[in-house]
Amino acid sequence: MEIGVPKEIKDQEFRVGLTPVSVQALVNRNHQVVIETQGGVGAGFTDEDYLNAGAKIVQTAAEAWDREMVVKVKEPLQAEYQYLQKEQLLFTYLHLAADRPLTEALIHSGVNAIAYETVALPNGRLPLLAPMSIIAGRLSVQFGARYLEKQQGGRGVLLGGIPGVSPGHVVILGGGVVGTEAARIAVGLGARVQMIDLNVERLSYLETLFGSRVELLYSSSAQIEAIVPEADLLIGAVLVAGKRAPNLVSRQLVAKMKPGAVIVDVAVDQGGCIETLRPTSHSQPTYIEEGVVHVGIPNMPGAVPWTATQALNNSTLPYTLKLAQQGLEGLKMDPVLAGGLNVQYGRLIHPAVCEVFPDLV
Ligand SMILES: NC(=O)c1ccc[n+]([C@@H]2O[C@H](COP(=O)([O-])OP(=O)(O)OC[C@H]3O[C@@H](n4cnc5c(N)ncnc54)[C@H](O)[C@@H]3O)[C@@H](O)[C@H]2O)c1
Repeated sequence: MEIGVPKEIKDQEFRVGLTPVSVQALVNRNHQVVIETQGGVGAGFTDEDYLNAGAKIVQTAAEAWDREMVVKVKEPLQAEYQYLQKEQLLFTYLHLAADRPLTEALIHSGVNAIAYETVALPNGRLPLLAPMSIIAGRLSVQFGARYLEKQQGGRGVLLGGIPGVSPGHVVILGGGVVGTEAARIAVGLGARVQMIDLNVERLSYLETLFGSRVELLYSSSAQIEAIVPEADLLIGAVLVAGKRAPNLVSRQLVAKMKPGAVIVDVAVDQGGCIETLRPTSHSQPTYIEEGVVHVGIPNMPGAVPWTATQALNNSTLPYTLKLAQQGLEGLKMDPVLAGGLNVQYGRLIHPAVCEVFPDLV
């Protein structure tokens, strides 16, 4: 199969769909890979690295897109809609539930779009979302600590505190992969940490991980109303797979937070779980509303492209190889990969996304 890898064009996005190691694995199996020039440079991979791995370098996005299969990191942006082709395989993050224009563009193009984030194992785990969730979870506390600094608009709290002064208070909504990794870093820094989840089994598992170091609470609106105003750093990390994130924190509740507290809503890519949150970017990461610093970067791992590109490829490569080998027909036989199929021959088919856009089905 001919596989194209365009350079990512999202603001400050330096990750790339395939590493040279992945290219080599594909080339060894007789696939042809073309990379847009400088496509991997932001992640630390030069055109020469790709040439050595057996790829061909092309000069334009149009040439990279004009292939049977396209492997990317982020969803196609409006400028890229023109490149989508009938029957082409597109393998990337899509997050359609929060993006109607893209959903329409995929449908109109006739493309077969497989979303990393909905490829699901029989136990419900999301193997291609997990590596970026681990990174985003760890970064959420790093970002939160930075924006709590006075010069960054925050209330001037050191998360770890110091003997004699209370540590910062971190509240995490959702104890999945993002939430767990956020808690791990927050605990490591010495912060006071509370985390809520709806899934009692998950809470029990988290107890085995953190013991009494993290206060684990069942998610209810009363619980959320009780803990959010106390937070120095509030992290949004909930997910209902394929659906828009549930809105857990109202504007009135944000207004009850301390001035200069920070919200990092990692779930922004699924629409966000905080009413006042809107997407921001690596260039303009924050804004202040109700006196609270808001951070809503949908591509947080883009801050660490060297780590993130390799972590992503470690997880996606087996699936990329399968797709390249077997194409759409093979995919249909594979229930794990089939879960990733959001749009098939221009028809919206992922049940959760269909529920969000019933008029597009
Ligand atoms: N911004 C970024 O750069 C970035 C990167 C990676 C992941 N994400 C996003 O982060 C979010 C979380 O991803 P994840 O991998 O941790 O998902 P996950 O499925 O591992 O965890 C989600 C958790 O949310 C819990 N949950 C659902 N509804 C809840 C509610 N009402 N109250 C409390 N908990 C609730 C679930 O029980 C689950 O434990 C997703 O939206 C994902 O797309 C964003």
